[in-house]
Amino acid sequence: MTFGVRMAPDSNPGKWSKPQRRFFKRGAGTNFRKIQSIKFLLTRDRTAVVKFLAAKYPFEFSRRQRFRLLKDLINITNNMRGYHTLAEILTVCDRIFRRGDRKDIVVVEAGSGSGSSTAKLSLATQIVGGRLLVYDSFRGIPKNDEQHELLDGRSLQFIRGAFKGRITAVKKRVNEYGAPEVCTYTKGLFQDTLIDFDEAVDVLLVDVDLISSTQTCIEQIVPHLKPQGVVFSQDGHLRATVDLFENDRFWREKLKIEPPQIPGLGTEKFLELIF
Ligand SMILES: C[S@@+](CC[C@H](N)C(=O)[O-])C[C@H]1O[C@@H](n2cnc3c(N)ncnc32)[C@H](O)[C@@H]1O
Repeated sequence: MTFGVRMAPDSNPGKWSKPQRRFFKRGAGTNFRKIQSIKFLLTRDRTAVVKFLAAKYPFEFSRRQRFRLLKDLINITNNMRGYHTLAEILTVCDRIFRRGDRKDIVVVEAGSGSGSSTAKLSLATQIVGGRLLVYDSFRGIPKNDEQHELLDGRSLQFIRGAFKGRITAVKKRVNEYGAPEVCTYTKGLFQDTLIDFDEAVDVLLVDVDLISSTQTCIEQIVPHLKPQGVVFSQDGHLRATVDLFENDRFWREKLKIEPPQIPGLGTEKFLELIF
């Protein structure tokens, strides 16, 4: 069972869930975590890392600086609980770096959890001289009665308070591992805090689990995307997210835009929405 979710009683652990009983410590700061990072670097995340090291960006970004960033990202993974892979966060960083010749780059993160993705995005944002706007309740998943289904048919619920990272704790971790000077934090429910959202956005990362939360973030922020702005969702493993993104009327009638292209929709957890 994944931390913070309640699976149906007959569900087997699978692609998106981990067994609960463990015989030795595996969490942040353990040697197990460090070994896992090396393993993933050489296997699961290798292609993304190679692409990042070879990529051409519209600003001076030396090999040495890239290795330094990779080291910092892995250090964060080793020391903080996070809910993304290195490949996923590197893909978001890549889209930030591709815009590295622009002025006032604005990156938005909706759903910060314990602050692992926030610390990583802050480092990438700092490299391009941009700003990172972080939105979260900082109290975890809000009260909800949503019943979810994974793409393989298993059901789950997101428990109130799951993934909680208090704002003081998140700031402390970003101060220690990230680039605090680029971050602005807005605490509260998206339904309240995004209502007056009025920033031109280059890159948006939405990792919020609840469909009501995803819908609010998309509705409130996508109209403020800059031309060629890009959106990522970490919730493509949920049937409700797929249904929302597949719904042409949502895009055309609610947002009054053409539906984006979404490679991997219906199969992948990590999605890029291309407008
Ligand atoms: C899975 S966690 C984010 C994990 C983080 N991006 C990472 O990779 O480590 C989901 C986050 O969404 C936040 N969240 C979900 N719905 C929300 C809402 N309606 N308003 C504010 N925060 C919300 C929760 O507080 C939680 O921190």
